Amino acid sequence: MTKRRKIITGILVFILLLIIAGSIYLFTGRKISDASGDVIKGDLGTESLVVYFSRQGEILGDLDAVTSATANSNQGMNDEDVSDTEAAARMIQNLTGADLYQIHTEHYYRKSFMGTAATAWVENTFHMRPKLAALPDNLDDYDTIYIGYPIWWFNAPMAVGTFLESYDLSGKTVIPFCTSQDNDIEVSMDFIRNTAAGAEVLEGHRIHEENLNDVAAWLHQIGVTTKEISGQMSSKEAESQTAETESENVTQGTENYKGFVLDNVLHSEDEGDIHYNLYVPESYDGSEAYALFLTLPGYQGLYFQGVGENLRTENIGFTAQEYNPEMIIAAPQLDDWGETSARQTIALTEYLLSAYNIDQSKVYVEGYSGGGETMSLVMGMRPELYTAYLQGSSQWDGAYDAVVENRIPVYLVVGESDEYYGSEPSEQAYQNLHDLYEKEGLSDKEIDKLLVLDVKDSAYFKKAGVTNQHGQGGKLFFEDEKIMSWLFEQQKA
Ligand SMILES: Cc1cc2nc3c(=O)[nH]c(=O)nc-3n(C[C@H](O)[C@H](O)[C@H](O)COP(=O)(O)O)c2cc1C
Repeated sequence: MTKRRKIITGILVFILLLIIAGSIYLFTGRKISDASGDVIKGDLGTESLVVYFSRQGEILGDLDAVTSATANSNQGMNDEDVSDTEAAARMIQNLTGADLYQIHTEHYYRKSFMGTAATAWVENTFHMRPKLAALPDNLDDYDTIYIGYPIWWFNAPMAVGTFLESYDLSGKTVIPFCTSQDNDIEVSMDFIRNTAAGAEVLEGHRIHEENLNDVAAWLHQIGVTTKEISGQMSSKEAESQTAETESENVTQGTENYKGFVLDNVLHSEDEGDIHYNLYVPESYDGSEAYALFLTLPGYQGLYFQGVGENLRTENIGFTAQEYNPEMIIAAPQLDDWGETSARQTIALTEYLLSAYNIDQSKVYVEGYSGGGETMSLVMGMRPELYTAYLQGSSQWDGAYDAVVENRIPVYLVVGESDEYYGSEPSEQAYQNLHDLYEKEGLSDKEIDKLLVLDVKDSAYFKKAGVTNQHGQGGKLFFEDEKIMSWLFEQQKA
């Protein structure tokens, strides 16, 4: 016999043995005697049912080690004796308060892995529908059916098909979840869609090495409201986590500088890589909404100048902390002060608003020098994202209309003899905004609440022993309590 023929014969013999073993079992297996067929009631009286199938409970005695079912791969249960799929099912039940039901076949599967594998292979290959020991008769009570199973031979176990095909699932939502050694749930989705005819079958989810927070994040992602679980992440945090995983696009920085994590990167599909340093107060746990502050640096703090250069050369990221201890501070390091950087700032703001629990009435922003130019462009495009804008030692490059339309308070501060810009561009910007507000019929008093022009004379700088109004002088503004209080006292109605 040639080597090739030997291999083929070997494979055929193996398959034959599997079929024989499986068939012997199928026709001689013991009946399960204690499948109660009972639905375990959840504590919320929801219209959802978590149904699952697992090898544990379908065999006599303990499982062998190969399935790893006695030390489940998920971390949501304290009880190590539950199988992977039961652990996953119970986590969903815990989080949703749904009812719970385990599918039992009429016959036991073999205790050895090979024995179960053989039977499962026969069932799968011949599209069999193993008989079930019981079927709950109240499925009509539920609108949503979660269906969970281990992947067997690159598919769902056929018993899951038996279950789904036993009911008219029209109008119901079916949410598949699986556990597996390796395969994604996608391998079983066609089978579930076909057997859950009439139902709306949502995208499935593989629950592998997950804990309650991970499962909650997935549920939030598909729009399911979950209960707060004590000692676990709140719904809001789970939502935040969802946003983070969803964006999957953030590479967290690893270096720390005075409480800021340096060089996080948001990989934006539309705007490319956005580098930012981030300060999240230790007290933040996601349960309460925090303010958000973005500070855009001058030229010396741009990304190509070096990671963290904005924080090393500007003080506002630190002085801001004194005005609101419950505030997340992002200090982006972009590449220039043009349109791309402006769009990146918007993308970053949107990301932060979705990833953290942010009080939308307190979203502050500041731009110094070149950062002010960028920020004025942002204000011309998406001012409604922000509560108020402080511009220091800069000029306005953006549009004005949207700022006025959205009534976003703006504070322009500059030295009267700013070496780089002079004070005229700020005065002009003030005038333009003022004119637009007047056109809208606002009184001077009303405009003063929305718009401040603060041109500092040379005495202001002299008093602080500073001779350079643009660079060193600019720093003074962000140590000036009057200016900083104006910003952080603003609050959107
Ligand atoms: C008969 C059998 C076939 C399996 N086939 C696959 C497979 O095709 N792909 C995979 O990733 N895991 C496979 N596994 C591994 C299980 O899906 C995995 O161990 C699962 O987490 C077990 O869940 P349980 O503890 O609820 O039974 C198989 C396990 C058994 C017992």
